[in-house]
Amino acid sequence: MARNKIALIGAGNIGGTLAHLALTRDLGDVVLFDVVEGVPQGKALDLNQCGPVEGKDGNLKGTNDYADIAGADVCIVTAGVARKPGMSRDDLLGINLKVMKAVGEGIKAHAPNAFVICITNPLDAMVWALREFSGLPHHMVVGMAGVLDSARFRHFLAEEFGVSKQDVTAFVLGGHGDTMVPVIEYSTVAGIPIPALIKMGWSTQERIDAIVDRTRKGGGEIVALLKTGSAYYAPATSGIEMAEAYLKDKKRLLPCAAYLDGQYGQKGLYVGVPVILGAGGVEKVVEIELNDKAKANFQTSVDAVKELMVACAAIDTSLK
Ligand code: APR
Repeated sequence: MARNKIALIGAGNIGGTLAHLALTRDLGDVVLFDVVEGVPQGKALDLNQCGPVEGKDGNLKGTNDYADIAGADVCIVTAGVARKPGMSRDDLLGINLKVMKAVGEGIKAHAPNAFVICITNPLDAMVWALREFSGLPHHMVVGMAGVLDSARFRHFLAEEFGVSKQDVTAFVLGGHGDTMVPVIEYSTVAGIPIPALIKMGWSTQERIDAIVDRTRKGGGEIVALLKTGSAYYAPATSGIEMAEAYLKDKKRLLPCAAYLDGQYGQKGLYVGVPVILGAGGVEKVVEIELNDKAKANFQTSVDAVKELMVACAAIDTSLK
């Protein structure tokens, strides 16, 4: 059987890390695309030289030509600009919208059967625009945010409880930004929900509230420390988790920015919800019951995403 082909659009910090992870996890051959000449070629050559040491046969190719992504099974999009200190994700909108147009058209022309994972920010608006520009079916285009946001939440919770990160599951809904909605009732240590752990004296509501706040601002905390860009190891690991779910038909239940067509009372937009990811792409949007507070927070998050969509449509009138 031929190897899978993974196209990485954007060969920056996340793109390079994605390529390394795809190689070491044996996901297939990788094409690294970027508009900057030399960078994707240099990273691909460097990564190819990991192969003999790692015992990995996946081949990497760096390119500035969209024709090289032809026949890709998966495209992961990180093209665009990243945040610098003092910037919000929304500040990236104008520049990255134009990038999504070019990328969407490239995918439409050369890899229309691919499963597309968008990572470029502001995520929920960019994945919507990318889908519009590419014209691919909605269930084949998805945004990566929830896996990362819940990984951040799980890391902080594991530290708080003094337990293995492996045993912490967490649920984060809504847009990727300060309005994201960590749902503590559905977040557990080996099945014990956080409210029960608070009752058991493992933590307090105040400490959990502080962790929720830190999770919401998790990306900004890293931007402030790095000063020259934004997080890339955990975003890349989260993107690869989603690609693997598709390529191996794992039927993973993961929080992703998915297209809603009536689910959760929302229509015509992308926002973070739990979905089943398998060989059919987004095979199902899972509708969980939310309490009134989570519902109100989710609506606030949806409203913030809608505002960005309006801003996109004002910049590019082909978007409605
Ligand atoms: N087509 C392809 N690649 C492009 C284009 C384009 N039109 N425009 C810019 N790029 C490339 C840049 O040349 C750069 O190599 O996208 C890459 C982005 O890499 P970084 O600046 O290192 O950013 P990174 O940390 O990888 O983040 C990428 O993901 O999480 C989001 O907010 C983050 O929007 C940002 C994106």
